[in-house]
Amino acid sequence: MKAQLENIYNLATSDIEQANTIADIEEIRLKYLSRKGEFNSIKKGLKDLSDEEKRTVGALANQITNDLESLLKDKYDKFYQKELNEKLQKDRIDITLSGKYIPEGKVHPLTSTTNEIISIFQGLGFSVVSPELSPEVETEYYNFDMLNVPKDHPARDVQDTFYVKNMPNVVLRSQTSGDQIHIMENQKPPIKVIAPGRVYRNENINARKNNFFHQIEGLYVDKNITFGDLKGVLNEFIRLYFGSARPTRFRSSFFPFTEPSAEVDVQCIMCQGKGCRTCSGTGWLEVLGCGMVDVNVLKGVGIDPDVYTGFAFGMGVERLAMLKYAIDDIRLFFNNDKRFLEQF
Ligand code: DAH
Repeated sequence: MKAQLENIYNLATSDIEQANTIADIEEIRLKYLSRKGEFNSIKKGLKDLSDEEKRTVGALANQITNDLESLLKDKYDKFYQKELNEKLQKDRIDITLSGKYIPEGKVHPLTSTTNEIISIFQGLGFSVVSPELSPEVETEYYNFDMLNVPKDHPARDVQDTFYVKNMPNVVLRSQTSGDQIHIMENQKPPIKVIAPGRVYRNENINARKNNFFHQIEGLYVDKNITFGDLKGVLNEFIRLYFGSARPTRFRSSFFPFTEPSAEVDVQCIMCQGKGCRTCSGTGWLEVLGCGMVDVNVLKGVGIDPDVYTGFAFGMGVERLAMLKYAIDDIRLFFNNDKRFLEQF
């Protein structure tokens, strides 16, 4: 058995001698030293030897195993360094090359303005309408009839409103106010919601007008809602959106679906009220329309005007963004010119 052990030892050392890679070393370790390796199968014969022999042969076996282990380890360490160096050399990167420029995405200014307005109204207790109550393709019934707009009102004219071809009474909505009707048909008071969305008008496109733009509609219906509540909410909105120092005024106006109606102006941000081109010399900029929900509108959706009152408002998102960021052409929002979009 001693001879057998020495024979294996010699074979193993010559294998180790010839090994060239870490993989070779692993293979040799498996071949000789693993549980199923050559040494173990010889060592199994130990149990048939006398006690005396067991001791000497056992000691030799251990000695040989230890020697082989340490030979393997030396070689392994050597190859490890060598292979590591080779790998480092091969994978070396040229850090003097300039990197790839990955342009940063931006939120579109209309999206961020909409989000900002939404979050201000959420802070004032309004929730956002669910999209199915805010369709862009609408019927005249919601866009006009239920909003108390007379059948012969010029706003219905094809000059202003896009009618859908071959679909009688179907329009691209010209205002988000129709959402008021959808909301009140679907929910009992108290109602306190805003409805942001895109609207369409058949305009001649210029620096101030596009044939689609965005509005945010607001509606608050409950018991004892007064014009004072309307003023409080809208003044607070303007304060938060434009900053605290900006004076506002409520100007009497007319909308078919509100009575009384008003338009809200803020002091011109360009000239601080002195009068300039932006404000046409008036010192004021109109920012939204509003009013107390007309009794006819409440009746139309089955809300008793003797029990409930409410106010509504509507504002143009482009206009509010233009005023805040001093943008002088509405078309800039829709051209996708990166030089413009990158500034936000
Ligand atoms: N729908 C109006 C427009 O497009 C804006 C408006 C005015 C909305 C008064 C309202 C309101 O809710 O009360 O010009």
